[in-house]
Amino acid sequence: MRLLVTGGAGFIGTNFILYWAGHHPDDDVVNLDSLTYAGNAENLKTLEGNSHYRFVRADICDSSAVYAAMEGIDTVVHFAAETHVDRSVLDPAPFVRTNIVGTSVLLEAARKRGIRRFHHISTDEVYGSLGLLGSDKFSETTRYDPRSPYSASKAASDHLVNAYFHSFGLPVTITNCSNNYGPFQFPEKLIPLAITNVLEGKPVPVYGDGKNVRDWLYVTDHVRAIEAVLTKGNVGETYCIGGPDDHVPNSMIVKTILKLMKTDESSMTFVKDRPGHDRRYALDWSKLERDTGWRPETDLAAGLTATISWYKEHTDWWHRMKSGAYGEYYNKQYGNRMT
Ligand code: NAD
Ligand code: TYD
Repeated sequence: MRLLVTGGAGFIGTNFILYWAGHHPDDDVVNLDSLTYAGNAENLKTLEGNSHYRFVRADICDSSAVYAAMEGIDTVVHFAAETHVDRSVLDPAPFVRTNIVGTSVLLEAARKRGIRRFHHISTDEVYGSLGLLGSDKFSETTRYDPRSPYSASKAASDHLVNAYFHSFGLPVTITNCSNNYGPFQFPEKLIPLAITNVLEGKPVPVYGDGKNVRDWLYVTDHVRAIEAVLTKGNVGETYCIGGPDDHVPNSMIVKTILKLMKTDESSMTFVKDRPGHDRRYALDWSKLERDTGWRPETDLAAGLTATISWYKEHTDWWHRMKSGAYGEYYNKQYGNRMT
């Protein structure tokens, strides 16, 4: 395959490219990323000198750069996005631009280039919020009901991808996956924020009552699921990807991290809730299992242990990510919330 990966310098894109280079060493990978605050080209420095890998610094909204980067490509794997819900509440505009306009630019270039597969990475957040006490789950047929500017922009991008399948016959697939965690995640998201705050001796902020539930998925399981869809999935289909039934409230996630890091529970600090905070996400991934045989392999205890070790071994990486502009965001987001 000759792949164009967008957003490959971010968290999941980096894990995907490293996995792909290891498991499909004869495939060519072009990584197109504009390197926003969330992107770090150094993540892929082990691929420097690899003749099958090339980095292109460009914005997915730049139609001529995108069209040029697709020359000779057969498969597009589209990760690039603005991804943090809290930032989308502070300022929705970059989410509309990158997630909606950027996706439409990529689709148009893919159509003109005759791309053989356009795979779009999306989120379970497009389905809205489940009741806290139920055991129901989102599936591919759940009605879209996004509640944050982030999830609304991802929902719009999903609709555009489906429109290019129906209107133009572009061979697309979409995956809607649950919350990922693992190496290379920017420390603004709950799990890396908690781990790095503990390593810095800072309190760990938990929003509201801490009872919100997410369906945690170790990033390597997500990457394997994308591989399964690219190699065995059916064109025109959407697949939900979730974790191994680790439906744990946020306060329990933080307590588990504190325990694994041998830190007192008093580090957990309840702060003012996020506006429109979705209560619970859970995903039924049986369609993906039926069509491809994929199942998640990493449970929460193993995944958190591996993730904590990675952040302990890569302090330079997250110190750099947490310095500079991130400090301004942190103060804006948490400055008047910490009790
Ligand atoms: P991330 O924020 O870590 O990385 C995003 C990457 O996209 C960065 O490298 C950034 O530089 C790049 N980017 C942003 N805007 C760009 C633009 N205009 N042009 C080119 N590059 C640009 O994101 P992530 O957590 O790796 O998420 C990847 C994808 O997976 C996203 O589409 C996201 O919606 C989806 N997703 C993520 C999660 C999760 O838990 N992280 C869960 C479900 C779905
Ligand atoms: P996050 O990692 O931002 O992912 P998402 O909003 O996409 O689910 O948040 C995961 C959960 O953790 C979510 O319920 C919000 C909560 N949260 C906190 O309690 N404290 C924090 O500092 C952050 C960033 C998130």
